[in-house]
Amino acid sequence: MDELVARVKPGLHPGYEDQADVVLDAQGLAKHYPVSQGFMKPKAVARALDGVSFTLQMGKTLAVVGESGCGKSTLARQITMIETPTAGQLHLAGVDVAAADTATKKRLRQQVQMVFQNPFASLNPRKKIGQALEEPLVINTTLSKAEREERARAMMARVGLRPEHYQRYPHMFSGGQRQRIAIARALMLHPRIVVADEPVSALDVSIQAQVLNLLMDLQEETQVAYVFISHNLAVVELIADEVLVMYLGKVVERAGKRELFALPRHPYTRALLASTPRIDKAARQTRQVLSGELPSPLNPPPGCAFHKRCPHAVERCKVEVPLLRQPSDGKTIGVVACHLAEQIA
Ligand SMILES: Nc1ncnc2c1ncn2[C@@H]1O[C@H](COP(=O)(O)OP(=O)(O)O)[C@@H](O)[C@H]1O
Ligand code: SF4
Ligand SMILES: [Mg+2]
Repeated sequence: MDELVARVKPGLHPGYEDQADVVLDAQGLAKHYPVSQGFMKPKAVARALDGVSFTLQMGKTLAVVGESGCGKSTLARQITMIETPTAGQLHLAGVDVAAADTATKKRLRQQVQMVFQNPFASLNPRKKIGQALEEPLVINTTLSKAEREERARAMMARVGLRPEHYQRYPHMFSGGQRQRIAIARALMLHPRIVVADEPVSALDVSIQAQVLNLLMDLQEETQVAYVFISHNLAVVELIADEVLVMYLGKVVERAGKRELFALPRHPYTRALLASTPRIDKAARQTRQVLSGELPSPLNPPPGCAFHKRCPHAVERCKVEVPLLRQPSDGKTIGVVACHLAEQIA
């Protein structure tokens, strides 16, 4: 992991009380999928996303972490308006998405762009890079061909691609370069939010640091806000301002980056941290292995969804759902969904 220590982003200071520049506001966001259980059987419901709330400010990064299957990509599809949530409210740049008319939705879609884990999936193999970068401008602007090319070339230079790359096809690039292209494409329309779903997970560790640094530089310059989805807490520690820890479609902990890494409160967060190779070696003291598997969202356990895997579980945990709350001991200001938050920390 040492290659990742390229530049640690300074953590957001506690309080983040300045909500003036909120670009994304999600309240109780849920997505339930009907799932067929076979012929003549009633449909079951997968609660992939089950009441997620947070806000994101201009120029900041919210990291979303959790095991595979916890609902991260489902959250990304709601924020990027690829899907319509089953319940909850979503405001993008102050606009209520559910109440927006078609023209407003089109404008909002330009404001929220996505970068995927596999840049091959988002780049058309038959289109040259220049063409791929100009495509959003063709669709959404009235710029001339010359103006589009000028913007594409400027963006290429900005993300570290060379002028001759303009004429090349995606297969001629390395994974890291392809991700630079995908980032460039996402930024062509000057979005206010970029949702990046595991953007560096498929890259070599040495390349990961370069791409993360690029993302941070671009944020400094443009004040774009990131929803940065990752299962890798070492990466999150570099790039996040705030962290949302998800378990089975719900938020179990939400805190500023520094606070979360200094004093993780939820047993699930603690287990995730303990199983991550840490940059700060002193933080590796308490190793705790996460046992068992993520339960199915078709049939979540009663009470605390984590109780079957939790080393601290008591009887109450099996029957009573813990609500997100600020622990009463005053040690931290983030919120956590655990009955025993005060005792565990
Ligand atoms: N279209 C769908 N229909 C049914 N279940 C789905 C659908 N999409 C996702 N799920 C389920 O929702 C849960 C969350 O999935 P996902 O958001 O992809 O998790 P993550 O990105 O954290 O790995 C998983 O159990 C997945 O099987
Ligand atoms: S509520 Fe109980 S089972 Fe859930 S995380 Fe806290 S101690 Fe563990
Ligand atoms: Mg995913």
